[in-house]
Amino acid sequence: MENQLRQIREKALESLAAIEDSQALEQLRVQILGKKGELTGILRGMGKLSAEERPRMGQLVNSVRSEIETALEEKLCEIREIEKARRLADEAIDITFPVEERHAGSLHPMNLALDRLMEIFVGMGYEVVEGPEVEYDHYNFELLNLPKNHPARDAQDTFYVDDNIVLRTHTSPVQARIMTTRKPPIRIVCPGRVYRSDEADATHSPVFHQMEGLVIDEGITMGDLKGTLDAFARQFYGEGVTTRFRPSFFPFTEPSAEVDLTCANCHGEGCRMCKGTGWIEVLGAGMVNPKVLEMCGIDSKKYTGFAFGMGLERLALIKYNIPNLRLLYENDLRFLTQFR
Ligand code: PHE
Repeated sequence: MENQLRQIREKALESLAAIEDSQALEQLRVQILGKKGELTGILRGMGKLSAEERPRMGQLVNSVRSEIETALEEKLCEIREIEKARRLADEAIDITFPVEERHAGSLHPMNLALDRLMEIFVGMGYEVVEGPEVEYDHYNFELLNLPKNHPARDAQDTFYVDDNIVLRTHTSPVQARIMTTRKPPIRIVCPGRVYRSDEADATHSPVFHQMEGLVIDEGITMGDLKGTLDAFARQFYGEGVTTRFRPSFFPFTEPSAEVDLTCANCHGEGCRMCKGTGWIEVLGAGMVNPKVLEMCGIDSKKYTGFAFGMGLERLALIKYNIPNLRLLYENDLRFLTQFR
């Protein structure tokens, strides 16, 4: 029996040394210490021993068992460490591995410019209003003091849908719509697409964008118009950019002005963009013609107002230093992805 015990002990320690994973370790434990295990078998056989032998053998078996148990325990710790290290190695992430850069998309420069414009005017208390692009002659012309056969209609190369319906040639019909439906005070901006039958070239497109502004209240003056546009120019292009008013004519404003902004590219020095003048024309503006106020149902003795209309393409080209209008419409990703 003693011999058997020694064999079990040696075999156990030997197999233990070769074990590398917890499953094999458990198998070994069952094989030796389990219900039907080798050592358990010996314990069972103790009954056959003589009374003198029994305590000695009992001690011996117990010491072998605790030796094996300790060895198993130690091995288990060892294996856990090894398995943890193996798992960490398997799951390792190389954070220095170069990745493919994903392009998350970007806004079109026109939208960037428009967002900024609206931010500025909403910041000054304006409401953003939109109107239809297919418009009645009535709003596009009549209510703006451009009756049929008025010579100034020729200045706007109009797409007619039929005798009474046009593709709007400017955003001014939106101010006519608002004036006929609301009471002053009115303070709105109206961005949107407009249409004129122009040939497309580096500075013209049959579809382009404008933003209309309209303010009507008691005591509004041309000074308010100038102050508003100066504030807009500074915020949109930066300090040092101001406006210059030149006398002009629009049937719906009186007096009327063409408004230039300091060339944001050369800050007034004169460059290719402003054709050496230091100024860029971007706006039509003026005091709302009292005749227009009356036609739209607003008391022109009590209320005055100003209106302006700006070309958004021109504003964006200068802001982002884009040399050709066509770039805005060609959807060339090499161009568009430059704007973030
Ligand atoms: N509607 C004019 C245009 O398209 C611009 C304008 C708007 C002028 C408002 C004066 C007042 O040319």
